[in-house]
Amino acid sequence: MIRRLGVCYYPEQWAEALWAGDARRMADAGLSLVRIGEFAWSRIEPRPGAFDWGWLDRAVGTLAGAGLRVVMGTPTATPPRWMLARWPDMLAHDAQGRPRGFGSRRHYCFSHAGYRGEAARIAAAMAARYGRHPALAAWQTDNEYGCHDTTLSYSPAALTAFRAWLAARYGDIAALNAAWGNVFWSMDYAAFDEIDLPALTVTEANPAHALDFHRFSADQVIAFNRAQVDAIRAHSAAPILHNYMGKVLEFDHFALGGDLDAASWDSYPLGFLEDRVDGDDAHRRRYARQGDPDFQAFHHDLYRAVGRGRWWVMEQQPGPVNWAPRNPDPLPGMVRLWAWEAFAHGAEAVSFFRWRQAPFAQEQMHSGLLRPDGAPAPGLAEAAQVAREIAQAPQAGAPPGDVALVFDYESAWGWAVQPQGRDFDYFNLVFAFYRAMRRAGLSVDILPPDAGDLSAWRLVAAPGVMRWRAPLADALAAYRGVALIGPRAGAKTEAMAIPAGLPPGLPRNLLDAVVARVESLRPDMPEPLAAGGAFTLWREKVETRAEVLECCADGWPAVIAQGGLRYVAGWPDAPALDRILCDACAAAGVATRALPEGLRLRRGADAHFAFNHTTAPIGLDAVLGDLGFSGALPPAGVARAPR
Ligand code: GAL
Repeated sequence: MIRRLGVCYYPEQWAEALWAGDARRMADAGLSLVRIGEFAWSRIEPRPGAFDWGWLDRAVGTLAGAGLRVVMGTPTATPPRWMLARWPDMLAHDAQGRPRGFGSRRHYCFSHAGYRGEAARIAAAMAARYGRHPALAAWQTDNEYGCHDTTLSYSPAALTAFRAWLAARYGDIAALNAAWGNVFWSMDYAAFDEIDLPALTVTEANPAHALDFHRFSADQVIAFNRAQVDAIRAHSAAPILHNYMGKVLEFDHFALGGDLDAASWDSYPLGFLEDRVDGDDAHRRRYARQGDPDFQAFHHDLYRAVGRGRWWVMEQQPGPVNWAPRNPDPLPGMVRLWAWEAFAHGAEAVSFFRWRQAPFAQEQMHSGLLRPDGAPAPGLAEAAQVAREIAQAPQAGAPPGDVALVFDYESAWGWAVQPQGRDFDYFNLVFAFYRAMRRAGLSVDILPPDAGDLSAWRLVAAPGVMRWRAPLADALAAYRGVALIGPRAGAKTEAMAIPAGLPPGLPRNLLDAVVARVESLRPDMPEPLAAGGAFTLWREKVETRAEVLECCADGWPAVIAQGGLRYVAGWPDAPALDRILCDACAAAGVATRALPEGLRLRRGADAHFAFNHTTAPIGLDAVLGDLGFSGALPPAGVARAPR
């Protein structure tokens, strides 16, 4: 596989007279992939069953004529207005039971069988038309499943489908009552048709009910996507991808990825920093023009796993975006850095969003590689620079990481249902471990919970895994390296109850410990650790016969070990986590470093890469000289040292 660059393009939004010049300029800039089509349903099928392929044929032909390859998106994230007239009950509903309105996008309900059929129909029609086109590089299904909070729908269609899903899962209603503990508060049901969606209850709904609704909703996304995949595969052998979003957790991306040929995701570092990265104001200020130094990398590593090694960035921020609370201009050089960071983590392609800034509609304030008047925007020169650079260093892919980190979507749902403290956020917990690994200079592989054999890594961390399922429990039992688990490990059963033997619920020969009490903490009441740093937000009081490696200042065990297994009895702050991780790495024989603020390292297919995410130069001789790096890395700088 070789590294490629691309761009997202909307020929339907521009006069046809512009297309040929656009295509030529894309090719001149060194771009080779163009994603089109994903919002064009109202122009492909202006009336039900009446297709207008002419313009799309000519657009594909124009791009192909310039030597470009096309990524064809199915337009199912934007059903046209006539679809709503045809299926008035296709809208997703919010948790208040209100239908989502037409007039933007993603307004459909994943459970609506009629709309699912329409989505498969348009996918099949597009695949029949373009599936064997010589310029077709790949397919993209829909656009960003789950974005704009659209996975969970409380519509009548979802209710009907949820009841059927429960009936299939539990078989009889007594089994459901027992599993959910419905004796509590007289919640017993006599029939599946009595069960409502877990919304509009007076106080919280039964957590088992809520968790099953998450599982159901996630399954609906998989089924919706599968209908399109099947429709496309009947006509086309081109790889099928989907473009995932950052920190969208409501469906299991590993499960969805199993139906696709590769993963891709949409990377908007400055938008993410403002609206979804865990951090205080000082952190947001420090990285306002660069983005969080680890958030993109985390998703690169996550989606590499989702794509089973094959992944792209389908949309890359090219300049200011429009949708975050504040939308600054990137530091000069960051557009190049973000692209190279993706390649360092193994991306096969990086595609910029979008070619020309649209002067109309919702995203008129979102930059492109061109300004609305067609003149180059600053991102274009950086993209062209990367194109020249990858021509000299074409090899895509990533070697195995130094350490592994387990990410489990079901745990995200469980802890969202029952955080037991408003700040307990599964993603943020796992991301805290990831950040510590990166500060230690480690290259990380993210693993699904059913990865199985862990012997490729000398250290595996699995914070916050809510329940033990066979693949992970068996893998840990067989593992000869160092495993770092907790807090809140094995704290629930499948039915979201406390396990009979109390957490962490591992066999005594693996870990002789019981979590006797847990507490959530205010952000301003850290629980100090004897060796420095503190537990924040969450701590556990553990009774154990295992070795106590670290204690809280009040004497309770903070880190315990039995064989290679280490349990962390709280949410460590950054100083504590750096120490706990580096101690575990030392025990595992994994070398660590202490990188300066904002410097990050990644072992790539062909070289070690160093990235400067700060606004000041960083000298490399002292910190990375052993890898062959030298001199000062400028702000937004990227350095390569051949391996
Ligand atoms: C993405 C989306 C694009 C566009 C972009 C703007 O999330 O897939 O269609 O809206 O954001 O940043």
